[in-house]
Amino acid sequence: MGEIEAHESKLYSDFAPLYDKIFGKIYYARLKQVIEDLGIAPGAKVLEVGAGTGTSFPAYPPHCEVIGIDLAPDMLSRAREKIQENGWTHFTVMEMDALHLDFPEDSFDYVMAFHVVTVVPDPIRMMQEVKRVCRPGGRIVIVNHFTTDFPVFGTLTEALDPVTRHLGWRTNLRLRPFIAATELQVETVYKLSKLSLYTVLVGRNQKDRYRGIGSTNLESHSIRAMRNGEES
Ligand SMILES: C[S@@+](CC[C@H](N)C(=O)[O-])C[C@H]1O[C@@H](n2cnc3c(N)ncnc32)[C@H](O)[C@@H]1O
Repeated sequence: MGEIEAHESKLYSDFAPLYDKIFGKIYYARLKQVIEDLGIAPGAKVLEVGAGTGTSFPAYPPHCEVIGIDLAPDMLSRAREKIQENGWTHFTVMEMDALHLDFPEDSFDYVMAFHVVTVVPDPIRMMQEVKRVCRPGGRIVIVNHFTTDFPVFGTLTEALDPVTRHLGWRTNLRLRPFIAATELQVETVYKLSKLSLYTVLVGRNQKDRYRGIGSTNLESHSIRAMRNGEES
């Protein structure tokens, strides 16, 4: 059998209730601040890819319309329970692959990906889909752990990648090659605290740059660059 991919981990299908208990509170604190800082306008349409159990959901203002998609039905069941328990009417969740989004172009004002880019099998493909369904000038918001460029820690976390893949995420994704490969027009990149392992990346969707490039070349170059940890 080949090497396991992060998204194939049973963590996201078998352990949805446990996931909430272990990660829910820690993740929510950071997502709440990120979402509040965006100042989402009334009527805005928001897509959250890999929404899981809906960790972030309490943070969205009720005046926006949020669709959450995920591949794992058990994670989505938990999200549905939360929606029902809270009487939220501004959420819809559906089973869908973030690599093949079933929405027309320019459908959303915001597309969020929280703790997901290191889980999906092909982050570049996911970002192409994210850019396609986000309207021009819309915002793309990513919160994730990226491998540090600091030599010792970077090498150490990369070495852990085969282990963490079994648990459900990869640790060999570097920030700069990711930004270059996805051609994200970055507005802000920051950490919520000095010691945080997580990076918040807010970008404006710029369609022309993305449409003008042959996606095959972009994919092969970027994936190769990311695999090799190149600073392209
Ligand atoms: C680490 S969890 C993050 C969940 C949520 N965003 C959070 O912050 O708590 C990663 C999620 O990505 C989902 N996922 C993995 N591959 C996916 C794919 N190809 N399409 C959609 N969701 C996917 C998993 O099922 C899981 O719910």
